[in-house]
Amino acid sequence: MSFANIAPSTTNEVRLREDDFIVSKTDTDSTITYVNKAFCDVSGYSEAELIGKSHDIVRNDLMPHGVYNLLWEHLQAEEEFFGYIVNRNKDGSCYWTLINVTPFYENDKLEGYFAVRRCPSESALKVIKPLYKKMCDIERTASPEQLLPLSSSILWQAITKEYQTYAEFVLSL
Ligand SMILES: Cc1cc2nc3c(=O)[nH]c(=O)nc-3n(C[C@H](O)[C@H](O)[C@H](O)COP(=O)(O)O)c2cc1C
Repeated sequence: MSFANIAPSTTNEVRLREDDFIVSKTDTDSTITYVNKAFCDVSGYSEAELIGKSHDIVRNDLMPHGVYNLLWEHLQAEEEFFGYIVNRNKDGSCYWTLINVTPFYENDKLEGYFAVRRCPSESALKVIKPLYKKMCDIERTASPEQLLPLSSSILWQAITKEYQTYAEFVLSL
């Protein structure tokens, strides 16, 4: 696991509007199958540039692996996931968002995943930004075997200080 393939972001941060809903759908391999207009408007990518691509096209180097690990643990258990994500736009700018990702089914068979992103509160970002920085810092220096356990333990320390579950932590911020 390394950050080598992730293009660096600029520090230019775009703030979502309260009424923005940034939507995407993927198949079970997280290949994008649908994006709404707001996704294209914010990211700067056209629909044609996004459909068929892996969803990590918007991955930002400010995001810890530990958070994606949790996201995929939820999705593999066919549970919905709430979390804070900072996405990288085509021009290198970024936006923070509160994301909800849910599995969807056709004829009882898992067809893929559906994601909706909304503007996060300022109070949430005050907690999340330093927490993710701490996780990224440790991920940069840890050995490949230790990277996820160490990063995840920082996340769980923050959660269990005041909350019972990860979802409770995220939605209370
Ligand atoms: C429906 C869905 C939506 C996703 N949305 C995002 C997103 O907005 N930003 C992001 O960085 N990753 C998103 N992901 C996770 C990516 O698929 C990927 O796990 C993540 O970018 C980490 O990439 P990496 O494992 O190559 O480091 C989404 C996954 C799914 C299934």
